[in-house]
Amino acid sequence: MVLITIPFNKPYLTGKEMHYIYQAVHSGKISGNGMFTQKCQKYFEDRYGFKKALLTTSCTDALEMCAILANIEKGDEVIVPSYTFVSTALAFVRQGATIVFADSRSDHPGIDENKIENLITTKTKAIVPVHYAGLSCDMDKIMFLANKYNLLVIEDAAQSIDSFYKGKPLGSIGHMAAFSFHETKNINSGEGGLLAINDIRFIKRSEIIWEKGTNRAEFLRGEVNKYGWVDIGSSFLPSEIIAAYLWAQLENLEDIQKQRIEIWEQYYDGLKDWANNNDIGLPNIPDYATNNGHMFYLVCRSSEQRDKLIEYLNANAILAVFHYLSLHKSDYYRKEHKGGDLPFSDRYTDRLLRLPFFFELSQLDLQLIIKIILNFPVKDIV
Ligand SMILES: Cc1ncc(COP(=O)(O)O)c(C=O)c1O
Repeated sequence: MVLITIPFNKPYLTGKEMHYIYQAVHSGKISGNGMFTQKCQKYFEDRYGFKKALLTTSCTDALEMCAILANIEKGDEVIVPSYTFVSTALAFVRQGATIVFADSRSDHPGIDENKIENLITTKTKAIVPVHYAGLSCDMDKIMFLANKYNLLVIEDAAQSIDSFYKGKPLGSIGHMAAFSFHETKNINSGEGGLLAINDIRFIKRSEIIWEKGTNRAEFLRGEVNKYGWVDIGSSFLPSEIIAAYLWAQLENLEDIQKQRIEIWEQYYDGLKDWANNNDIGLPNIPDYATNNGHMFYLVCRSSEQRDKLIEYLNANAILAVFHYLSLHKSDYYRKEHKGGDLPFSDRYTDRLLRLPFFFELSQLDLQLIIKIILNFPVKDIV
């Protein structure tokens, strides 16, 4: 067995995390919705223009809150790309929704915006676009359909912090959005997430669902003199210890983004000729989207070529990994999938490979990865 020396991910510590955690612990207030939670939420509201930002313990939790807020009930249909993480669909399935899976684009793993309208029925309640690799879906097309058919749009922005569509921050365009701060994301708190609300109709209820179905947030602001059980909800809010860690990351967001985008560009420059000459796909950034340096991926010519390249990199002590498995073929949901084949979702399932990507990836290691890939006998395995 080869010992991996270049991991796929390494969570970045800015250096202030323990300092802020110490402050949180010594403030005597370590449950949720304290000073650090509010600082983080205000930061997101100010920087990205969300009407309301609520920290959650994960993106999955934020998506579950969206499903509750959207009043998803048994029989409602929700349109979700098949090429995504389980949570994008699961959050709505828990509320009783039927998931209608959409295919990916031929030039990008994101949802094919032009194939959504055919999936809309009288039962459709919401569309959940995923901005894969932090690269925006064509949101004008999706919002047009939402307006035409009176649907909600919930952006799965798990990977999309600090990325933009035609100048608008991702997560600020749909009615609501969910972000992830899992340790693999650009900014992280180990596990963590954010619910962003852009439609003010949902603000009041979002705080109640967040606080176990109580109006405790109103009570903490002094707006009511007692709080109690007023709706459904759960314990979606993280402790101040998590928020304190996240605050240290947010303070360094610009540096983190700059460094990650630089790593991304070096991968691109180092691999583009090789990829072109060998018919390997590289990330495609549409002109309406920005790149937030979340991920660098290759789309190989076949699953055999992808698997061999992963093996070859592992043999050279580099951990490269595949990504999502089409959800319409999952053990849990394939019997429920009434739609047809989704060839592009399957294509990315079989052929996409992600390269090591983290803030502290050194120049030396980055150049080594590129050099090793350029030496892969790509023409022998197609
Ligand atoms: C598109 C997408 N949505 C949701 C999630 C779930 O995020 P979390 O682990 O924060 O719950 C992920 C996880 O990476 C994801 O890739």
